[in-house]
Amino acid sequence: MHSGSGAAGATWALIAAAGSGERLGIDRPKAFAVLGGRPLLAESLDRLDRCPLVDAIVVAAPPEWEEPSILLAEELAASKVVACVAGGATRAESVAAALAEVPDDALVVLVHDAARPLVGDGVVERLMAPLGEGFDGAIPVLPVADTLKRVRDDVVEETVDRAGLVSAQTPQAFLAPTLRRAFSGDLAGVTDCASLVERAGGRVATVEGDPRLLKITTPDDLALVETWL
Ligand code: CTP
Ligand code: MG
Repeated sequence: MHSGSGAAGATWALIAAAGSGERLGIDRPKAFAVLGGRPLLAESLDRLDRCPLVDAIVVAAPPEWEEPSILLAEELAASKVVACVAGGATRAESVAAALAEVPDDALVVLVHDAARPLVGDGVVERLMAPLGEGFDGAIPVLPVADTLKRVRDDVVEETVDRAGLVSAQTPQAFLAPTLRRAFSGDLAGVTDCASLVERAGGRVATVEGDPRLLKITTPDDLALVETWL
């Protein structure tokens, strides 16, 4: 759909929306679960489309749901959406499929989970700063509140030192060439994009995350986020 000339702009947002939502346990992919009367995907799509720092969007849709995803973007008048591609068997493969749509002259790529609907301009602004200061990437993180235990067969083996541990959220932001290089390697066992960049020797900064960027996994999560709308 896009020209490939980079005319769509410097900052591309990829929405990973291709998961099946096994743990949510509904009759359709999680991206099309109903949140506040519209598909879950609508929330992050709408918010990123309105975000002044985002120039173009690619959606990795659940296989066979590309068409409903395009229709949703049209309904929302999300004019920054340049492509909806079919995702892959894993999150990393879905992101790779979306990344293939990003033109060579893009500067920054943001990767976001559709399962985290309440993305805001604030976190995107925070992520951009380190990219201008020599970092290859930036991710939002939250402190770990609970005491952490390593457990085997329901028995505690040890208490894990919490110092220096945080939990990672999305959106995650990267210099486009760095992310592309990171994705040219093996994607097996990868749970977030930053880990690929780290593995390739890239420097990834952390910025303040947002509890409202909670990832919807279970029906309870969906009900909770619904109350935050
Ligand atoms: N995702 C994706 N492609 C996949 C798997 C996951 O794009 N093959 C996306 C999901 O759509 C979601 C994000 O990655 O936005 C985080 O994944 P997760 O919360 O685990 O979603 P699902 O894999 O759909 O859920 P489940 O693990 O319960 O099946
Ligand atoms: Mg999953």
